[in-house]
Amino acid sequence: MSGAWRALEAALAGALAEAEGKGRRRRLRPMTRIAGGRVMLADGRTLIDFSSNDYLGLSLHPQVAARAADYAQRLGAGSAGSRLVTGTLIEHLQVEARLAAFKRAEAALLFASGYQANASILPALIGLLPAPVKVFADRLNHASLHAGLAQADLRQIRFRHNDLDHLERQLQALPNQGASRLIVTETVFSMDGDRADLAGLADLADRYDAILYLDEAHATGVFGPHGAGLAAELPACPAGGRAPAIVMGTLGKALGGFGAYVAGPQLLIDALVQACGGFIYSTAPPPAVLGALDAALDLVPGMGAERAALQAAAGRVRRAAAARGFDTLGSSTQIVPLQLGAESWAMKAMADLEAAGLLGVAIRPPTVPEGSSRLRLSLSTVHSDADIDRLVEAIGALA
Ligand SMILES: Cc1ncc(COP(=O)(O)O)c(C=O)c1O
Repeated sequence: MSGAWRALEAALAGALAEAEGKGRRRRLRPMTRIAGGRVMLADGRTLIDFSSNDYLGLSLHPQVAARAADYAQRLGAGSAGSRLVTGTLIEHLQVEARLAAFKRAEAALLFASGYQANASILPALIGLLPAPVKVFADRLNHASLHAGLAQADLRQIRFRHNDLDHLERQLQALPNQGASRLIVTETVFSMDGDRADLAGLADLADRYDAILYLDEAHATGVFGPHGAGLAAELPACPAGGRAPAIVMGTLGKALGGFGAYVAGPQLLIDALVQACGGFIYSTAPPPAVLGALDAALDLVPGMGAERAALQAAAGRVRRAAAARGFDTLGSSTQIVPLQLGAESWAMKAMADLEAAGLLGVAIRPPTVPEGSSRLRLSLSTVHSDADIDRLVEAIGALA
């Protein structure tokens, strides 16, 4: 073995030992997802899953799975090329047109994943905007948004989480003078389960001449008219029409499949096709993904009753958490964190839930800030009232 390999091995072993020493070594845990919002562990135990993002239960929906299988059988397992070479099927364009209509946007573009979308759209967009570009980003934005901004090689101006007064002070402190301004935020925050104030953000964007970039990963399918997301509720502009925004979201959460999209003006989509590395230099999403999305787009608009029941169940869980004295961090969605603070406490709470037959995964740094370890509970329309009863009971019994 060469010296370089020995040095690498020593460094890798050192990094793993350090993580182990801090109790933060992560391990992959295999499980089989089964109907009714359950998972089966490798040891055969079945737990009620309160940790996945399958908010509408579509990942195991027979219609979604059948259409994914049908597309794969008719069109192949892979797309065999990148979109600009041989990878664009008629079906890509069809589902993109459907997505655009669903999101009430002029056009939409598919990506292989949400991480890839954010990590590559943001630097492309920043490269296209007239320089200099000033980016204002919520401090609790998802890692993929940070990755995209880091890739653009600029310093983010980070405002306190959901604090629009702080954002406004930052906007005031940087007079426009020809700079392009971009405000980047999630609409439903993945780890806190709270929502951005979109009306307030649209107002600031209007008054300070900024562009809004919204990540709807956890809102798509769950909020807004027919599940179109919160951006579909942006207020009207004084000049008419809805406040414009660049909106991305993922397909692997409420929509039950895999991948991501960006939706916005046709001009933006056309420009991203020319300039966005994550779109250009990557194999096109495979047919099964397109089939799953096509079926999800048939189902999601009509799931209004399920969406209402999902939020009612989340309210029950929040009330149970509050009664037990837990901070749920401003959650107003299907994501309900129980903020516990110490990592050891979060791990213990996860083990207690597991002993009660429930899966509620502990989320620890670096995914969340130091000292804010939590159980991130997420609800799905496939949970029964009896499942929620068991969760409420288990929360009440947490030591
Ligand atoms: C807010 C947010 N954006 C982007 C992503 C990345 O999406 P994907 O899982 O499709 O890579 C996630 C996923 O966890 C997310 O929570």
